[in-house]
Amino acid sequence: MNGKDLISIRDLERKDIEGLFSLAEKMEGEIGGEKSPLKNRIIATLFFEPSTRTRLSFQAAAQRLGASVINFESVALTSMAKGETFVDTIKIVDGYADLLVIRHSLEGSARLAANVAKHPVANGGDGGNQHPTQTLIDLYTIRKVKKKLDGLCVHLVGDLKYARTMRSLLYGLGMFGADVTLVSPKGLEMDKGVVDEAKTLFSMKIKQTNELDLKGADVAYVCRIQKERFADPYEAEKLQKEFKITEEQLKGVKEDLVILHPLPKIDEIDPAIDNSKHATYFEQAKLGVPMRMAIIMKLLGRA
Ligand code: NCD
Repeated sequence: MNGKDLISIRDLERKDIEGLFSLAEKMEGEIGGEKSPLKNRIIATLFFEPSTRTRLSFQAAAQRLGASVINFESVALTSMAKGETFVDTIKIVDGYADLLVIRHSLEGSARLAANVAKHPVANGGDGGNQHPTQTLIDLYTIRKVKKKLDGLCVHLVGDLKYARTMRSLLYGLGMFGADVTLVSPKGLEMDKGVVDEAKTLFSMKIKQTNELDLKGADVAYVCRIQKERFADPYEAEKLQKEFKITEEQLKGVKEDLVILHPLPKIDEIDPAIDNSKHATYFEQAKLGVPMRMAIIMKLLGRA
């Protein structure tokens, strides 16, 4: 992946991801140290959709490596408000920075940016499609906590129709030989094409259910209902109320069940669970920095 783009998790092979695990481990040891391998490099963050973790952890990662950051604040504050196109904007920023991190609500937008830009592009989420850097953090976290990925029973729980984190992660888990149970409210099942592709590519075992049951899971990866992608927000709110992990649901689960979440969490996990031994999502978010340091180093051909 040196000097290339990272648009989909399918851009990577298992050996690339294993390389990133080792590099992220090394980066964990270097946070707060004196090394500035990317001094004089500039990383641009262009987020056309809201973001806390992806934007700030990419910016933190860049600065931990000694790089500077330029940030596209918002459409309202740029020439896009005057009618400049996305493609022209990308061409301009490509002239200013060494790496572009992009999030946009349209599927395929990151690929389009990568086709236009000469510098590497990292996809920070394109609509309901892909979120590969989040998946790398998720796999890294699971491997760190569980010491393996192969053979684990992972439940993907929530809005599987619209959540890009879930699509990317399904492929990632398939690559590493995990068994997956897809748990969603009725009507929010994962796209059949994506499920079939994962089965074909990785010969993985995938079960599907609408029952919120975490028994038997080693990992429960939960996401919010993606309200902004619904035609009717009322529908989203209704589903959110019905699909919630409470302390009751944790009765009878494995002692060492790990609960992950890409965050933000809204209503889908009872806040009381934050203090349980199962909740690992805040640690997961923190691991975003070393993993994104590793990704930046690789994309800039420095590792
Ligand atoms: C996710 C996203 O933007 O897809 N957040 C993140 O990057 N950590 C999850 C979400 O918004 O539900």
